[in-house]
Amino acid sequence: MTRLFVNASQVVTCAGPARARRGAEMADAGFIPNGAVATEGEHIVAVGPQVELEAQYATAERVDCARGVLTPGLVDSHTHGIFGKPRHEEQELRASGLGYMEIAKRGGGIHSSVRDLRQRPEDELFELATPRIRRILAHGVTTLELKSGYGLSLEDELKSLRVIRRLQEALPVRIVPTFLGAHEIPLEYRAAPRTRDEYVALLIHEMIPRVAAEGLAQFADIFCEPGVYTLDESRQVLGAARAHGLALKLHADELEPSGAAELAAELGATSADHLAAISEGGIKALAASQTVATLLPGTMMFLGRSRQAPARALIAAGAAVALASDFNPGTSPTVNFPLMLTLAVSQLHMSVAEAVVAATVNGAAALGLATKTGQLAPGFSADLALYEIEDIRELPYWYGDHRCVRSWVRGNACHS
Ligand code: NIG
Ligand code: FE
Repeated sequence: MTRLFVNASQVVTCAGPARARRGAEMADAGFIPNGAVATEGEHIVAVGPQVELEAQYATAERVDCARGVLTPGLVDSHTHGIFGKPRHEEQELRASGLGYMEIAKRGGGIHSSVRDLRQRPEDELFELATPRIRRILAHGVTTLELKSGYGLSLEDELKSLRVIRRLQEALPVRIVPTFLGAHEIPLEYRAAPRTRDEYVALLIHEMIPRVAAEGLAQFADIFCEPGVYTLDESRQVLGAARAHGLALKLHADELEPSGAAELAAELGATSADHLAAISEGGIKALAASQTVATLLPGTMMFLGRSRQAPARALIAAGAAVALASDFNPGTSPTVNFPLMLTLAVSQLHMSVAEAVVAATVNGAAALGLATKTGQLAPGFSADLALYEIEDIRELPYWYGDHRCVRSWVRGNACHS
């Protein structure tokens, strides 16, 4: 079926090369006033001024955009969406002065989500994740990465990844699964008779081979951070993941600089995420690599930290910057991806165009999908989001609001 999206006050195309946009390239998000988009089944076939497309697609079904703004469907390339209970108590503990790592040392943080997830059957996790993800989609996201990582045992990680597989089948959104068995060292491997080396060996020799053999993940990720996984452990785990055909991601330099961004570049990881504490050397390494620098400003905001990732320095150095929500129960319990654009502009000092490119094309590149989605251009997937605003600058401006009215993935309704 041919469709023509008409009566948009603006179409933001992000059209251009089918790869991550780097440095100054990010400033161009391709605005077409009074633009239109034609789709044929799952794909986009034409984008341009409405006056030009109307004659050519005279018989196409019309979708009335009601003077709203049309963008590529948003790509949230970093979420931990498979968990059980919320962790609201930690927000107040932090407010009273306790740090994220101190809470973790007392058995809270990730460990508390692990205890909780291990007790829940797969069906229950699926039922809990479904409405949360629908709320994410309601904000314009059409491609979503989902990580495991609150199981930290072979069975519980497989259970989490199977939930992701069921969500792929059940929900109208493109979902990319990531294995994050290396999210923490589980408590039972921190004291005799077991050792952390045994858990690293379990990851390398049992968990990764099994996840890869069952085709349950496209990426492997690791929390490479002082106090969690060392650089050396990260190298070993990610080396095994690569050997089993998984692409790589790292939680890098989130709280302290440790050389994790440099490691991501060295390993040719698809993305290095967080980077609030990245060093000068890390910025240079990412700028000289193909690794996308994925920034998660909601996390630093929610943790009450004053330091945000140095987006300007990364862009000035020529890196490719993406934005993601980091949706998770501990450090970023938000389903509102456009709020990340607000934080990008107001706290990371990015322009609106840079923020939109970071949330679409570069998010897609952070998932290895830059040739499929992230831009409104002929040949790309018909992934679109429509907002009740007249100017794209209103998307970050009305912060915390909900302006997405409809979205489509592969030409089908994603949110309506
Ligand atoms: O990306 N940094 C590690 N992982 C998550 C936090 C997970 C949690 O606290 O549950 C993050 O911020
Ligand atoms: Fe994360």
